[in-house]
Amino acid sequence: MYVNSCSQGALSDAVREAYEAYLRDWDEQGAPWEYWVELTEAARAAFARLVNAEPDEIAVTTSLSAGVSALATGLRYARRSKIVVTDLEFPTVGQIWHAQAARGARVEHVAPAEDGTVPLERFDKAIDEDTAIVSITHVSYRTGAMIDVEGVIELARERGALVLLDAYQSAGSLPVDAKALDVDFMAAGVLKYLLGSAGLAFFYCRRELFERVWPTATGWFADRDIFEMDVHDYSPSPTARRFQSGTPPIPSIYAGIAGIDLMQEIGIAETREHVVQLNAHLIAGVEELGGTVATPSEPDRHGALICIASTDVEELVAALGRSGIVTSERDGNLRVSPHCYNSLEDIELVLQALGRHRHLLA
Ligand SMILES: Cc1ncc(COP(=O)(O)O)c(C=O)c1O
Repeated sequence: MYVNSCSQGALSDAVREAYEAYLRDWDEQGAPWEYWVELTEAARAAFARLVNAEPDEIAVTTSLSAGVSALATGLRYARRSKIVVTDLEFPTVGQIWHAQAARGARVEHVAPAEDGTVPLERFDKAIDEDTAIVSITHVSYRTGAMIDVEGVIELARERGALVLLDAYQSAGSLPVDAKALDVDFMAAGVLKYLLGSAGLAFFYCRRELFERVWPTATGWFADRDIFEMDVHDYSPSPTARRFQSGTPPIPSIYAGIAGIDLMQEIGIAETREHVVQLNAHLIAGVEELGGTVATPSEPDRHGALICIASTDVEELVAALGRSGIVTSERDGNLRVSPHCYNSLEDIELVLQALGRHRHLLA
């Protein structure tokens, strides 16, 4: 039984068939690049629908890191040199921003409070007139806590700073609306709650900012005219495509489109409602067992991922595994992350197994 969608979504028939279609097309048609470029545009459109953006505000990338690197190398740090980053970011995000120290940037970290969330007052202190960008994660991979995105954006706007949202742990598990949030940049990949696999991600850029960023991590698929094949200059696309790089990940695009379509057919808002109920049952059950939930318990303060404190988390993950339950761990906490395909019975099974290993709960 699978409750590990925070690491990787479960394999669906639709995604399996998409991979088979890729092999069939390659086999039967050789190199159908015209179609594959069309498919890349279909992925762009699917991402745009997913986050309520226009297709030209979306770059189709091979990882979240690739899009964020294009952004980080495209900002200048001469006038505003500070980058505000939470300690809850995925390592790749912190590492990319720290790499910009070589270009004059300085990174200031904002730590979470005891309850695993980052209080707005901490951003209020950190964001100032020297801040170029604030980098936040929607739902933390470490604690499952959901950030007050609107609150952070309001503070950043007031002080003229940009905001990047890492939506990897939220996209597909709850509605994410770029326009409603009015966020500047956003990135996520498809391998978790969007049911795709490794190799495909997207990067969103608000259209007013296209020309303000000049990525120096780049490639020919970011060029103004890909088929100009001009080796003599760099003229990036006037749209968010400037955040792309080399050849698009075609097999992952087949799978990613199938995964996104499937999630939209199932309903992302409906999935969110369903998982909130499952997680309420999980949280209550863990507390009844005398365990400690490390994720804030209010539904509007967490995503699909619930973290449970353990005295020996590796042993707990292994013990659950022996009962046929797939979970994962980070920071000494067990991670349980249900998705649309999980049921109350699944949560009951998790709770029964936790009951059998109560000594491993902290
Ligand atoms: C919050 C978050 N950001 C980023 C990543 C990974 O990004 P990338 O596509 O660059 O490997 C993950 C996935 O493991 C994640 O959970």
